[in-house]
Amino acid sequence: TIFAKIIGTGGYLPPRIVSNDDLALELAQKGIETSDQWIVERTGIHQRHLADPGVRTSHLATHAARQALEDAGIAAQDLDLIVVATSTPDYVFPSTACLVQAELGNKGAAAYDVQAVCSGFVYALTTADAMIKAGRARNALVIGAEVFSSILDWNDRSTCVLFGDGAGAVVLQASDEPGILAAQLNADGSQMGILCAAGNVSHGQVVGDPFLRMDGQAVFKLAVTSLAASANQVCEQAGVSLSDINWLVPHQANVRIINFLGRKLGIPSEKVVITVDQHANTSAASVPLALNAARRDGRIRTGDLALLQGVGGGFTWGSVLVRC
Ligand code: ACO
Repeated sequence: TIFAKIIGTGGYLPPRIVSNDDLALELAQKGIETSDQWIVERTGIHQRHLADPGVRTSHLATHAARQALEDAGIAAQDLDLIVVATSTPDYVFPSTACLVQAELGNKGAAAYDVQAVCSGFVYALTTADAMIKAGRARNALVIGAEVFSSILDWNDRSTCVLFGDGAGAVVLQASDEPGILAAQLNADGSQMGILCAAGNVSHGQVVGDPFLRMDGQAVFKLAVTSLAASANQVCEQAGVSLSDINWLVPHQANVRIINFLGRKLGIPSEKVVITVDQHANTSAASVPLALNAARRDGRIRTGDLALLQGVGGGFTWGSVLVRC
């Protein structure tokens, strides 16, 4: 059996840090009221990193990719697959994956984007795992990257305080040892209305609404129930129990969602990786950024069992169970 093994990780956050107080001050100038206390109590978010104007998703993605390649000890030309998960691509086309490929100096690898919003990285990782298992790739770069600040309505306090920009990456390699043990993905397109950015450019005009809109409470409920069900399913698939999991690495939308989930699964908080306090919600970048942070600070070690989970617009959700 061929497995796909994570042999390197990387992350990149744009250098500009905006605290809740900074943001509250900026919004106050437009007559919009918010506070550090409100944001921390409802979300656990203290700050976010925001890209400067002109900085695009491919730039963040390329930084994270370089770090992951260095960690893996392989060169860009060794890659035969590049998958980027993003909902904020640089262009309609070419894909952000092709832009990253050119930046890295790789020629010939297959390159494509996956669009599943905050579940994007888990979707992309599952796709790359399947390609490696099928013998269609040996060295895959999987990136989650977003400039979510570009699709936020900065006059809507109920959404603009929740998100940040960033990128995380992993290198997967074909291996005799596990690796990715199990994965499962889901979607329910009938739930589009609770979280969407329902606009585009057509005939040279913006059509629809270019900004992210969300029914926060509906998303909250669906996120907790769908992730709990998905965790049970992926463990059953792999023949492991929830108590075997060393690290839960969930999508970082909100500390309260993560705490509810941990409690529902019976996973104690010291086994849950949290970065949302520092990064806010970076959509497709949140899971690989959290994985990278916990590997680099020595929490996640070789041999640990990690459950990666994504949930987001679509509605989409899914889990990947990894022997690190
Ligand atoms: N500052 C101050 N007050 C605010 C803010 C703000 N930034 N935003 C909203 N409020 C006000 C509202 O206007 C409302 O006031 P009202 O009672 O006078 O009408 C009040 O706060 C309560 O608003 P609710 O929407 O009921 O607040 P809730 O407790 O549901 O918290 C939140 C909102 C944080 C969005 C919550 O619903 C949530 O966490 N949902 C999960 C959604 C999420 O995290 N999504 C991330 C993207 S999706 C994903 O990644 C899966």
